[in-house]
Amino acid sequence: MSTSQTPAVLSPVASSSSLSLAMPLSQAGERLLDRWAGLQRDLRMVLDGFRGVQQPTFSPRQPRRADQQRSAPTSAPSIAQAAPGVLKPRPMVVRQVIRETESAVTLVLADPSGAPIAFAAGQFFTLLVPCDPAGGPPLRRAYSACTSPLDAEGRPATTVAITCKRVAGGIVSNFLNDRSAVGDVLSLLGPSGHFTPLPRADQHRHLVLIGGGSGITPLLSIVRATLQSEPASRITLIYGNRSAADILFRGALDELASQHRDRLCIRLLLDEPPADWTGGQGLLDEKNLQAELRTLSLMPGSTAFQSDLRHEYFVCGPAPMMAAARHVLQDAGVPATQIWEERFASLHDPVTVGGAATQPVPMQLRLGRLGADGQVTKSEHAIVVKPGETLLEAGLAAGAQLPFSCAMGGCGACKGRLREGDVVMSEPNCLSSSERASGYVLPCIAKPTGPVQLDVES
Ligand SMILES: Cc1cc2nc3c(=O)[nH]c(=O)nc-3n(C[C@H](O)[C@H](O)[C@H](O)COP(=O)(O)OP(=O)(O)OC[C@H]3O[C@@H](n4cnc5c(N)ncnc54)[C@H](O)[C@@H]3O)c2cc1C
Ligand code: FES
Repeated sequence: MSTSQTPAVLSPVASSSSLSLAMPLSQAGERLLDRWAGLQRDLRMVLDGFRGVQQPTFSPRQPRRADQQRSAPTSAPSIAQAAPGVLKPRPMVVRQVIRETESAVTLVLADPSGAPIAFAAGQFFTLLVPCDPAGGPPLRRAYSACTSPLDAEGRPATTVAITCKRVAGGIVSNFLNDRSAVGDVLSLLGPSGHFTPLPRADQHRHLVLIGGGSGITPLLSIVRATLQSEPASRITLIYGNRSAADILFRGALDELASQHRDRLCIRLLLDEPPADWTGGQGLLDEKNLQAELRTLSLMPGSTAFQSDLRHEYFVCGPAPMMAAARHVLQDAGVPATQIWEERFASLHDPVTVGGAATQPVPMQLRLGRLGADGQVTKSEHAIVVKPGETLLEAGLAAGAQLPFSCAMGGCGACKGRLREGDVVMSEPNCLSSSERASGYVLPCIAKPTGPVQLDVES
């Protein structure tokens, strides 16, 4: 891993004249078309999922906006659902182990059959990691893909790489860093998540990626996929770290920046820079972020900001950096629909909320279409939920084709609405307060307190 102090701005910001300013549609019209196309694709994937067909390379879904964290509509079924009704993770072989820095390792994973791995740039997988020497159940942790869903020839990729950074005292991150070896088999659920720009050849926009520490992983996937698939768009990556030794993917970033000088600008910042550092200095706090965005003309109101070009902001990193980015962007008047956030919050270690029924309780489950124009029921199930079981576990065990992906309250793919009864759920989870108020629950972590009636979109 190179730690040389190359200039922090690896390629210059393109002059405004290097971009065509004309947009084929008004932004509002374009958004409507995007939404309609997304709905069509989601529907196709739902149907494909039930037929056992894999998702397409890109898994388009409504992006998660900053004002609706993790509240996008029910997403498509995961690869795991190719076997309907079974909570069946997909085994993956570790093909390569790459030591990125002293505290981060990349695992390149492949399906043993060589089959393509469908995901969208920026999405994450849930790994089931067998790290208990006593043979206890595997621990679940989410890791974002850092590679593109397409291979060098533009075909669906047959490998996916994840990069795991050590967390002090963390069980899985240290296990993966210390013990991973080529040939290991790990199980994956997913892909999950809405932190994706869904690169598309006909789009013309500026993606502004703001990352800190291990938050670079989904951003690198987005950089790679967008450069490959969206030739008219530009990308600026602002990436902060404590020291030069902490910068992840330094070599890959240098290479991408030199290969795509006119489309990719990378700005590195260090909190503890070495004496010869020529890049940005300091934490990515509000003051520094505002200064960076102003200097790069990436914030409404800044000199030479291209207000007629759509700017989309993707933010992933430590919580204080994410809060700073959100404040700066909101204060500058960036619409919430143009801000995406990914939190590496530890959803796997939630506080278990007591109060679940200690006796078996009945669940009336309706699967179908929910909506203002009425419920269209595809199937109904009378299910008994055993003590300790989640609604998802009970439903899948009874053969109901419930959607799910991360199975740990982190993605919203399983979301359903309670008609009757109540549940307890572990916290934190990805439901927004408005979803909670509307009666939505996450069956993958919901345990009933008594008889329940549940509707799930499928
Ligand atoms: C959607 C999503 C995507 C993610 N993608 C990545 C990725 O690409 N690369 C990556 O390295 N990690 C990623 N994470 C974080 C990852 O899932 C684990 O939380 C992390 O590896 C720590 O797991 P652990 O078992 O080592 O820690 P644990 O043993 O579970 O936790 C040990 C202690 O550290 C705290 N802790 C746990 N996670 C973090 C954290 N991320 N930051 C600070 N403190 C923490 C816990 O609260 C606890 O006190 C992602 C998380 C989410 C939700
Ligand atoms: S499956 Fe991800 S939240 Fe339930």
